[in-house]
Amino acid sequence: MLSKIITGTALSIAVAFASAAQTKEIPDTSYQLPPLLMTRSGKAIHTAADWEKWRRPEILAMFGQYVYGKTPAKKIPLHFVTISINPAVLNGAATRKQVRVYFSKDEKYYMDILLYLPNINKPAPVFLGLNFGGNQAIHADTGILISKRWFRYGEGAAYTDHYATEASRGTQSADWPVEEIIKRGYGLATIYYGDLQPDSSNSVNAGIAPLFYKNGQTKPAPGEWGAIGVWAWGLSRAMDYLETDPAVDAKKVAVIGHSRLGKTALWAGAQDKRFAFVISNDSGEGGAAITRRKYGETITKINKAFPHWFCDNYKAYNDREDELPVDFHELIALIAPRPVYVASASEDQWADPTGEYLSAWHAGEVYKLYGLTGLPGPVPPPVSRPVGNGSIGYHLREGGHAMRLYDWQQYLDFADRVLR
Ligand code: GCU
Repeated sequence: MLSKIITGTALSIAVAFASAAQTKEIPDTSYQLPPLLMTRSGKAIHTAADWEKWRRPEILAMFGQYVYGKTPAKKIPLHFVTISINPAVLNGAATRKQVRVYFSKDEKYYMDILLYLPNINKPAPVFLGLNFGGNQAIHADTGILISKRWFRYGEGAAYTDHYATEASRGTQSADWPVEEIIKRGYGLATIYYGDLQPDSSNSVNAGIAPLFYKNGQTKPAPGEWGAIGVWAWGLSRAMDYLETDPAVDAKKVAVIGHSRLGKTALWAGAQDKRFAFVISNDSGEGGAAITRRKYGETITKINKAFPHWFCDNYKAYNDREDELPVDFHELIALIAPRPVYVASASEDQWADPTGEYLSAWHAGEVYKLYGLTGLPGPVPPPVSRPVGNGSIGYHLREGGHAMRLYDWQQYLDFADRVLR
C-alpha cells in the first residue's frame, strides 16, 4: 500500500530511512585502535623491513587465530581439465573457457572457473572473484554450464528448491559487466563460491574442509578456518590455475568480491601475495569496516546470523569488539605495498561506509613505510567522488548494497594506473 502512494525520491528516502533504522544511529568514536606500527610486545616499527619481519606476520597470524581461522598449510595436488573453450564469444571480442580444478585424485572435490579473456594477442590482466548465483548467473551467454550445486536462494523460477534452473542465466549480470571489462582489455575469472563450501551453517562437511581433516576430525577446530577462509583458499587455487594459463598475465591478477565475498577477497589478498591488486566492494563488518565503531552490523550480529563464516574463536568477541586483538584497518594493511581499493554505497549503512573508509585511510600508515601514498585524510568523500591517486582507492557510490557498473568503472580506471 505504502509504495503505491510514495514514489521516486520519496521512496528512496523511505528506503534509506528504513535501512538506517536497522543500524545504531551513532557510531562509537571513543575507540582505540590496535596500533599498526607497534608489535604486541611493544616494539616500534619504523621501516618496511621491520613491518615485514615483525608486525605483518603477527597480524596475519592473529586474523587466522581470532577471526577467519587458520588456513591449512598442507598443499594438495591439483589437476586442471578444460571443459570447454570457445575462441569467439561476445561478438568475437573474447574467448570463453571453463576449467574444472580438481582438488582430489578421485575427482570428488572440484570447482569450475569461468574465464572470459579479451582476444588481444597478449597475456591479459585478469579480475578474479567468486560469485553468488553460479557462473551461469553472471552473463546470459548460453554456453555457460549451469551449476548443479546447492544455493542459498530457494524459491522462484531461477532457483527452485535451492537448485539453479535455466531461468537463472544472466540474473546477476548487473554485477558483472563482462563486455565492459573485455573492452577495457581485462579478463574475468569467476567461480561459484558454493563449489568450495555451501553458504549454510550446517554444511561445513559438504565443502572441501574435510580434505584437510586429521585423525578422525569431524569439523574445523576453534582456531581453524570458517567458510570465508575456505572461500579465500579457493581463490588462491584459482590463482594456481591462472599461473598456468599462457593467455593470462598472472602478475596482474586483481582479486575482487562483493559483500561476504568482499570480506573473502580481502582475506585472500592478505594471505596470498600473488594477488597484485585487491578490491573490496561493500564488504562491511568482518571485511573493510572498523569493528570498534559498532555501527551497523556488529560481531554479535554477524556471528548470530552467519555462525559458519568465521572461526569459533571469533565468537568470544561478541559484544567485546574492543578486546579483539586486531581491527580491520590491519587487514587492509596486510595487503601493502600492493594496491587496494575499498568501495561503499550510500544506502548501505549496514556495512558502515565511514568505517570502511577509515580502515583504508588508517592502512595508509603502512603504505607510507614503503614510500607509497594512501588516502588524503580522515574525512570520507561525498558520493560519486572517488579518491586516492596513490596505492589506496576509495569511493562511495550512490545507492544500495551491490556491485554495479559505476563500481567497476572506478576499479578499471584504478587498475589502468596501478597494474599497467
Ligand atoms: C548480510 C551480512 C553482511 C554481508 C551481506 C552480504 O547483510 O550481514 O555481513 O556482507 O549479507 O554478503 O550480502
